[in-house]
Amino acid sequence: MISDETVDRVREAADIVQIIGEHVPLRRTGTDFRGPCPFHQGTHKNFSVSPRKGIYYCFVCHEGGDVFTFLQKRLGMDWPGAVRYVAEKVGIPVEEVQRRREGPDPRQPFWDLNAAVADWFRITLWDEDEGRAARDYLALRRVSRDVADRFGLGFAPRDPEALRSHFAALGYDDTRMLDAGLLVQRDEGGDPRARFRNRLMFPILDAAGNAVGFGGRLLGPGEPKYLNSAESPVFSKARLLYGLHMAKHAIRRDDRVMLVEGYFDVVRLVSAGFDWVVAPLGTALTEQQAALLRRYGKTVFLLYDSDRAGLKATFRSGDELLRHGMSVQVVTLPDGEDPDSFVDKHGGAALAAPLGDALDVFERKVQLLERAGWFADLRHKRRALDRLFPTIRATQDAITRDMYVARVSTASGVSRDVLERELAARPARESAPGDQARDATGPSNTRPPRGPSRRPPARRPTAPLERRLVWVLIHAPVLRDVVGEQVGADDLTDERYGKMLAALVASGPDGTAQQVADQLPDDMRPLFQELLEEPPGEGFDASREAEGCVTRIRVAPIERRLREIQREVPIAPDDDAKNALIREKEQLRDERAALGGGRMKSFDLGR
Ligand code: UTP
Ligand code: MN
Repeated sequence: MISDETVDRVREAADIVQIIGEHVPLRRTGTDFRGPCPFHQGTHKNFSVSPRKGIYYCFVCHEGGDVFTFLQKRLGMDWPGAVRYVAEKVGIPVEEVQRRREGPDPRQPFWDLNAAVADWFRITLWDEDEGRAARDYLALRRVSRDVADRFGLGFAPRDPEALRSHFAALGYDDTRMLDAGLLVQRDEGGDPRARFRNRLMFPILDAAGNAVGFGGRLLGPGEPKYLNSAESPVFSKARLLYGLHMAKHAIRRDDRVMLVEGYFDVVRLVSAGFDWVVAPLGTALTEQQAALLRRYGKTVFLLYDSDRAGLKATFRSGDELLRHGMSVQVVTLPDGEDPDSFVDKHGGAALAAPLGDALDVFERKVQLLERAGWFADLRHKRRALDRLFPTIRATQDAITRDMYVARVSTASGVSRDVLERELAARPARESAPGDQARDATGPSNTRPPRGPSRRPPARRPTAPLERRLVWVLIHAPVLRDVVGEQVGADDLTDERYGKMLAALVASGPDGTAQQVADQLPDDMRPLFQELLEEPPGEGFDASREAEGCVTRIRVAPIERRLREIQREVPIAPDDDAKNALIREKEQLRDERAALGGGRMKSFDLGR
């Protein structure tokens, strides 16, 4: 048997519109969704789904129920099956319990505690002497008492004992405060202390309005600037959105939401009259947060910082939202502004202009690539496509996806058929960092936006070889000259090994380890020492080792370019371009043959 609590959580988390929408074409009408009734096979839109109430109802045949009833009646699932099916979709684990659980929600004590602590922080902020610095800080940032109270802002005192002693006197025990992440146990046997000290406190509520945790900002400089509650049975920062409880009705009403980066952005925008704003809690937008937002509205306006990091976050979040079938608009603020500083400076009305200029996230990506000249030549074009494809692949909405393909086709001059074929092919391997260095000197110095979310860290396929080569040269000084003639620091993808190689070659066969080390920056000494202390084993053949490394390091960029060419051929605009690629390929193959498998005789002076 599945506990009532779990069933409620699953029902609460379920996107009934999306689930029913998989079987019935639904369109929004006001706050509800309408479509033809699947139960009496109606053709008019008499079948209504209410995301707010979590129910469906047909005005003609009077069939109605919740998301589970729908799955039972429509797909013939049994009840536990329907619960499990939905639970799977929303990522809530379902465990069977022996008997029906009676009584209150086990999370209630956590909610109560957090609410009580929020109250205490608020009183400390406004009524206590030690709240003065925080009051001054709020005044400095032009946050009024009224606005602060709407968000329940508070102040966590400096004294690490204060919270514990205050709440112990009220009958709260340490265990609960520890479990709620409000106290931390620093060392065995010592007294637990307050997690938040000397911080401006933002209470965090879940969508249902329960107090689940806090975000706390330091008043002055220091690290970390913001600190969140520890993960607990009620607080999971990947699943919460700051401000959602307040914004959810407005989001549903208008079917749109503004997503900003931080607490102060939410506070500022809400106080300027924008009641449809939420922020993640200091992480990139997660899958769960995107799913949560989707339950309330379809169009998201992203208002991130205008710097590089903000742009990167914009595109990562964009892909995540597109994966959930949402429509994503990017709002660009003037350089150096975040929504908080912009509205503080210019007032809320001034935000109308950037909001009006919002661009579809994909259009924005294409625009940046176009402006930086990425569609000018074939080589960059191919890479531009590889940056755009993940977003197209992420896009769930079929019409939107079609538009995106059409847009890339116009921008790149590659036909839609070819694009579709390439989209269906296996995604490209990530390029090596060496490529990126070269990209920067491409048609323009503007670096294009980075790729989509879930991009693995850049790979340095030859780094282990580079390390090995450096190690050989440390232990076989006699090879330094001959290797120095074959490869230079620039041929290595890992800058650290490049510097070591240069130092080793410069010191020559007679250079001591100390002389080499002296040429290295301080922070590289430990790595050098590590290599120095790795002894060559029995039967160490320095010549052969070096030769193998050198060959593979020199062949690697040729191989990489050959793979690129393979991918450029299908999008080549005409036969001339194709022939040029084929000629380049033949030439590279010759070069590779000249190096490859190559016996580099000069290395024979090894032993
Ligand atoms: P920002 O550093 O952009 O700060 O972090 P901000 O929101 O503009 O804050 P102010 O205006 O300096 O007060 C954006 C968000 O990232 C999270 C917080 O949620 C913050 O609101 N963050 C930032 C952290 O979680 N920890 C940090 O140390 C910094
Ligand atoms: Mn800010």
